[in-house]
Amino acid sequence: MLGPPGSGKGTQGARLAARHGVPHVSSGELLRAHVQDGTEIGRAAGDAMSRGELIADDLVSAMVLDAVIGPEARGFVLDGFPRTVSQAMAAYEVARHYGVTLHAVVLLEIPYELLLDRLLARGEASGRVDDTVEVIRRRIDVYVEHTLPLVEYYRGRDIVVRVDATGTIDDVTALINSALDDVAHQVDPRLGDC
Ligand code: AP5
Repeated sequence: MLGPPGSGKGTQGARLAARHGVPHVSSGELLRAHVQDGTEIGRAAGDAMSRGELIADDLVSAMVLDAVIGPEARGFVLDGFPRTVSQAMAAYEVARHYGVTLHAVVLLEIPYELLLDRLLARGEASGRVDDTVEVIRRRIDVYVEHTLPLVEYYRGRDIVVRVDATGTIDDVTALINSALDDVAHQVDPRLGDC
């Protein structure tokens, strides 16, 4: 799942994973759990997260790849990772080693001005420390600078699925499911209507 802060990666990633019966692996959620538990990773990441800055590529890559790569891995939804071209290249090397392939990159497209209200509302409800006006603006700038180049990287592999993320949560889910069903049939025509 690729998209700016508040575009719905977590919301839609959880639904997509449930639909396919695979794990939903969110780098942001993993990092927040480390911060809450006071682990070494959490202590290294907490300050940068609260400012809306990215965490070091090698630390995040190791954490996420540990969670998805294993002998029993039979698919997963990645949310928030990779987030830089460097993370994508690291993931590709590991995936190639294990014979794992990314089948689609779902790009949630939404005008940035719609994100602020969504995230401020969540900040009030959940108390997420990075959901303040100043930090949300910084997260969007970081997305434009470091994460948008990934779209071009994955376009070269012809796996970007663009989805209009401006509708309701259910509207966006329907668009994602329909687009990914098309991809699944291209990957394996025997999938039928499942
Ligand atoms: P992360 O947790 O990934 O935050 P983010 O990318 O800023 O994304 P959000 O979780 O804010 O939004 P989302 O797109 O998941 O939307 P959501 O579904 O939650 O990362 C946090 C931090 O961790 C980063 O800033 C960085 O420091 C660090 N980090 C994480 N991964 C990293 C990596 N790979 N490398 C380096 N650092 C990393 O929805 C948002 C709100 O909108 C919710 O309240 C939801 O209910 C609502 N909503 C969703 N869809 C709709 C809709 N269609 N209509 C109305 N409301 C909606």
